[in-house]
Amino acid sequence: MAETASFLDRHHFLLRRLHSLTGIVPIGVFLVAHLTTNSSILWGKVGLRADGHGMGLTEGGVTYFQKEVEWINTQIPHLLLIELVLWISIAFHSALGVVYARQAKNNLNRYPHQDNWRYALQRFSGYFGILFIFYHVATLRWGWSFLVPPFDGSVPWSHNFASSTLAASLRGSWEEFTIWGLLVSLFYFVGVTLLVFHFANGLWTAAITWGITVSTAAQKRWGVACFGLGAGLMIAGWSSVVGFAMLNPLEAKKYEMKFHEKHGNDVAPLVIPGLSPAANPATSAVTVP
Ligand code: HEM
Repeated sequence: MAETASFLDRHHFLLRRLHSLTGIVPIGVFLVAHLTTNSSILWGKVGLRADGHGMGLTEGGVTYFQKEVEWINTQIPHLLLIELVLWISIAFHSALGVVYARQAKNNLNRYPHQDNWRYALQRFSGYFGILFIFYHVATLRWGWSFLVPPFDGSVPWSHNFASSTLAASLRGSWEEFTIWGLLVSLFYFVGVTLLVFHFANGLWTAAITWGITVSTAAQKRWGVACFGLGAGLMIAGWSSVVGFAMLNPLEAKKYEMKFHEKHGNDVAPLVIPGLSPAANPATSAVTVP
């Protein structure tokens, strides 16, 4: 333990800057891109431009989001490598973040003009963020569908049915909005809100860490910019959660099938066990894992 402490002490300058840097690139940059893409469930019809003619807002959102997900999965080169860099950065930033949060003291020396509540919330949002990011990645990336209500694997994540499976996982069922779904949606809402605060407030402190904002006036000016970025990102984050929680998964599934048919994608229909044939309009009996 003493050795660990001395390692951290000996490399304090470098580690602090690496912690700060990873919070901005790649984690912060990813957060901006991720929330912008997810919020397209509300504004996707506009993003489709001429392709969206004749579509309603819901169909436009589902179609645009599916297009984005497909692009990410098929067009981005070295996707696994990019994901690895992101995961390692999150693990590094979180582990060191916990160390810094536990050592939290003397903040008035480090950031003389920062309010104490923001300092405390920065730490709390970090802890909550670990829990939220873990649940989010485990269920929607690693496919741990036993953690998604109703906890029987009936709400699997599928890239080919990105909107419908995400909506069902936020609502706790393919058909109605359940109490469990409400809890998951609330968890997402709080998680996204805290992480956006964490990033925006972190950008403000990062400028102090790097010696960019030294005077009180400079810190105030940068504070306005960070507040503006945070507000925009908050709108994107809230739109994502509300947009998917309000989306009817079965309606979304219909638009996704239409999208695949139109693009000639060879995709097996997603048949949900336990739902009536009317609710499972696909003809094939293949169940997407
Ligand atoms: C989306 C995820 C995250 C983003 C975008 C992010 C971003 C940032 C940024 C930009 C900073 C400012 C660094 C500085 O002041 O120089 C920061 C600070 C911090 N982060 Fe994160 N972070 C994320 C997740 C986490 C997690 C999961 C933890 C876990 C505890 C954490 C703990 C901390 C702590 C404790 C600080 C303050 C360090 C200090 O000033 O002493 N962060 N974060």
